Amino acid sequence: MSEIILDLPSQRATNQFGINISNLIEIGDIIYLSGEMGSGKTTLARSIIKNLLVSQYKDIEIPSPTFTLVQVYSCKDFNMGHADLYRIENSNEIDALGIEDILYNGAVLIEWPDKIKNKLNYNILEIKIKILNNSRTASIENIRGWEDRIRELEQQVIK
Ligand SMILES: Nc1ncnc2c1ncn2[C@@H]1O[C@H](COP(=O)(O)OP(=O)(O)OP(=O)(O)O)[C@@H](O)[C@H]1O
Ligand SMILES: [Mg+2]
Repeated sequence: MSEIILDLPSQRATNQFGINISNLIEIGDIIYLSGEMGSGKTTLARSIIKNLLVSQYKDIEIPSPTFTLVQVYSCKDFNMGHADLYRIENSNEIDALGIEDILYNGAVLIEWPDKIKNKLNYNILEIKIKILNNSRTASIENIRGWEDRIRELEQQVIK
């Protein structure tokens, strides 16, 4: 198991990390975003999505999917889903969100992924964010198919 830890000392650093991740995402990828409330899961997701949008849509609002549960963005090369499972009470409800449909020609970011009982059979990267006052650390773990890409992430400097 490969796990790396990155420092995210500012929101700017989180945004840069999001850009680095977005450059590695492929169709069929799932990214789990874990961490307590306010740790920066949506902030990171916004940066990833923004960097993948075509230039004329770069300034659209990217809301937290806490209430809609899932949002889909049509990006440059593929669709990008953004889900938040916080309000899911029964893991059966997850099937109705259509996450697997998005993965057919896109990738999905999932906040509060611990609600998923059976690990989905896709390439999965898990990012766990921890709060340290105004700073954050991100521990990054390959669940499936991210071994080489995780090493690339480790080598990219975040300021
Ligand atoms: N280094 C940092 N990286 C990301 N966010 C930071 C950082 N430092 C401070 N913040 C602040 O932390 C907050 C993170 O909020 P965000 O909505 O992204 O969290 P979340 O993990 O998605 O929460 P929730 O569980 O409620 O969905 C923002 O207000 C942001 O400005
Ligand atoms: Mg959030």
